[in-house]
Amino acid sequence: MRLSNKNAIITGGAGSIGSAVAERFLEEGANVLIVDLDQRSINSTVNRLKNKGGRIDGFSADVSKASSVKEMLDHAMKFFEKGRIDILANIAGIGPFSKFTEIKESDWDRTIDVNLKGTFLTSQEISKVMIKQGGGVIINMSSTNGILAEEGLAAYNASKAGVILLSKTMALELAKYNIRVNSVCPGFIRTKLQDEAGLPKDMIDNYIKKIPLGRFGTPMDVANLFLFLASDESAFITGTEIVIDGGQICQE
Ligand SMILES: NC(=O)c1ccc[n+]([C@@H]2O[C@H](COP(=O)([O-])OP(=O)(O)OC[C@H]3O[C@@H](n4cnc5c(N)ncnc54)[C@H](O)[C@@H]3O)[C@@H](O)[C@H]2O)c1
Repeated sequence: MRLSNKNAIITGGAGSIGSAVAERFLEEGANVLIVDLDQRSINSTVNRLKNKGGRIDGFSADVSKASSVKEMLDHAMKFFEKGRIDILANIAGIGPFSKFTEIKESDWDRTIDVNLKGTFLTSQEISKVMIKQGGGVIINMSSTNGILAEEGLAAYNASKAGVILLSKTMALELAKYNIRVNSVCPGFIRTKLQDEAGLPKDMIDNYIKKIPLGRFGTPMDVANLFLFLASDESAFITGTEIVIDGGQICQE
């Protein structure tokens, strides 16, 4: 088992990728607290994953609000034995679509608040715990959109680029406390939500043509990368971003 008895917090843990990460962590022996907004989807995720391995619990919190993050931390300190938190995966995120000239201030604020400020707030609180206990691992969800632009997603792209530099700065400041910090940049990951949204077949076919490996990624592809970065197999990796996109952005 690659995460035996490690304690992990996963924000966005009831979502498509977050719940896949929770599943992989549990299978590898970790205890997991999933943090998300909606109590019902938290409950159904906890029920679905409760026999996968380690202990699992859920907590409803809004990562963009400092008070909510503190409540989540209080809960985590009670759920995890001796209040130890070994791994934080910041996966909560939103990406409202709009032409640049039509972005509403409220959508801009909410996107930056959840994706960037949320990553900052949870990382700041939990890194204090990690410093006291002598180390830990933080993995932040960015995107290929944090490296190259995509039309209609200015706020999202800016927030995900911010996550990469936030992560590098955290890596520099936290290395002396034995805390590693990296970000993950997925390309197009096919999720249940997208399937339910019913993307047109020609749009899907056109998109796949841009991916050298000839398919979309899956939540499990991304979960396996989170597992690697959370485990000691990546003990010398910090302050970097890893692209997982089937080769999409390596080409001209
Ligand atoms: N799906 C992709 O193709 C793709 C590609 C690159 C990056 N990502 C990133 O991966 C992450 C997960 O994406 P997904 O496709 O699984 O989407 P998803 O919508 O299934 O998951 C996101 C989760 O975050 C939660 N969330 C939103 N705001 C929150 C808040 N304020 N506090 C706590 N939780 C909150 C949502 O409720 C949801 O469960 C996001 O950060 C997204 O930007 C996704």
